[in-house]
Amino acid sequence: MTDLVYQRCIHPYCGTTVELSDTSFHCPKCDGLLDVAYDWNRLPIPKSLKHFESKWSNRTHPLDFSGVWRFRELLPFAPDHKIMTIGEGQTLCQRADTVAQFVGSKPGNLHLQYEGMNPSGSFKDNGMTAAFTHASMVGARRAACASTGNTSASLAIYCAATDMMRAVIFIGSGKISYGKLSQALEHGALTIQIAGDFDDALRRVQEVSKQLGIYLVNSINPFRLEGQKTIMFRILEALRWEVPDWIVVPGGNLGNSSAFGKAFFELKELGLIDKMPRLAVINAAGANTFYQLCEKHSVRWNAGEPNNDIIDSYMKKMDDTNSRADTLASAIEINRPVNLPKALRALERLGGVVRETTDQEMLDAKAKIGAGGLGCEPASAASVAGLQKLIREGVISPDERVVCVLTAHLLKDPTATVAYHSSDPKMFEDVLGKRGVKRASFANRAVQVPNDLSEIVKAIELYA
Ligand code: F0G
Repeated sequence: MTDLVYQRCIHPYCGTTVELSDTSFHCPKCDGLLDVAYDWNRLPIPKSLKHFESKWSNRTHPLDFSGVWRFRELLPFAPDHKIMTIGEGQTLCQRADTVAQFVGSKPGNLHLQYEGMNPSGSFKDNGMTAAFTHASMVGARRAACASTGNTSASLAIYCAATDMMRAVIFIGSGKISYGKLSQALEHGALTIQIAGDFDDALRRVQEVSKQLGIYLVNSINPFRLEGQKTIMFRILEALRWEVPDWIVVPGGNLGNSSAFGKAFFELKELGLIDKMPRLAVINAAGANTFYQLCEKHSVRWNAGEPNNDIIDSYMKKMDDTNSRADTLASAIEINRPVNLPKALRALERLGGVVRETTDQEMLDAKAKIGAGGLGCEPASAASVAGLQKLIREGVISPDERVVCVLTAHLLKDPTATVAYHSSDPKMFEDVLGKRGVKRASFANRAVQVPNDLSEIVKAIELYA
């Protein structure tokens, strides 16, 4: 299989290839990021995306049941018997007319891709099943990640469910919501809380993995991104194989943005789609490196030679001033995204734009998404808040068909949600006010009533 599938440096001027089994996840020549690359001419490729519909009749086959592996011809790096699946990717792409009205889109033109339905409650399971599959091919026994919470929850669940590896997770202290921390602890991961933030943890986990030979499952691992491509395949499937005009996604470590770009680029290359969607990546305003570099400093992929001087001096300035990411959307509280070059490439291929959105905007959008029937965590709502901005700016038209990716479930971070809807001003101030949130315009406050039947009846008649 090795000559059909390998890893390749993403920079065209380098293009160094690395064995499929290599687990260093860096180009040995230029230290660049790696892609999983395929010799598509010698692999069996379906003639049309409709081919995948035949898998629906085969729900008892674990690989056809998985929303990742039913597309395995489009990520063919593993033999079937090595695939490690726990039934991930049974997610929903829902038409969302009330949210469409909120953002200024026309009815029928907005869909929400709800990745909170995965086994660990976030999109990470799409990538984790692929990383575990690669890990099973190379015989790994321990796996590590740095995480703002969802990668670690996913890793912990896959380790517990498969009993294949021991999970070692690095988290920044005080930086992870309880929903996610509880998953890591409950599922038995060795949890290392370091005095620092995600950016520090990611640096350390790479050093430790190298030193101890532990398999790394952060999205620097290109196999993770192969799994995350399938989020786009499921969107196409839900839209009856019609490509939407825009995909909108929150940006943190930029794994999704990179994976989505690769997914569409490959589909086009294989002749399975005839148009490309555009991509909008939404940063939190308190963690906006990608927005700053792309939109304020005009950094571009530039055929694999982005302006590294600008990037390096931007990063150095952050180091010199000890500038730290700071947002309530803790999942994307990241200032040094590892997949930056891949995401620049995705933006170029998909005619992408980047925007930033405040915590206030995210929480308001989140409440509207929830009121429409899908619960997500603050970071996920960046996609809808960003879409609202892009429609107001006239970049996206109300007539265009848009899919926003909701990356994780509401229950991941109940603290922010309860504080938003609370009528207790102290709670609001402690959780949200201190971080710059001023209003809860769409709060659904609990009604306080005495323990008295007629008062209860009166309250219901008044409010419902
Ligand atoms: N949304 C959620 C809910 C996330 O957990 C993350 C990333 C993102 C968006 C950003 O995705 O990195 O592909 O741009 N969470 C990582 C973690 C960093 O450790 O769980 P990205």
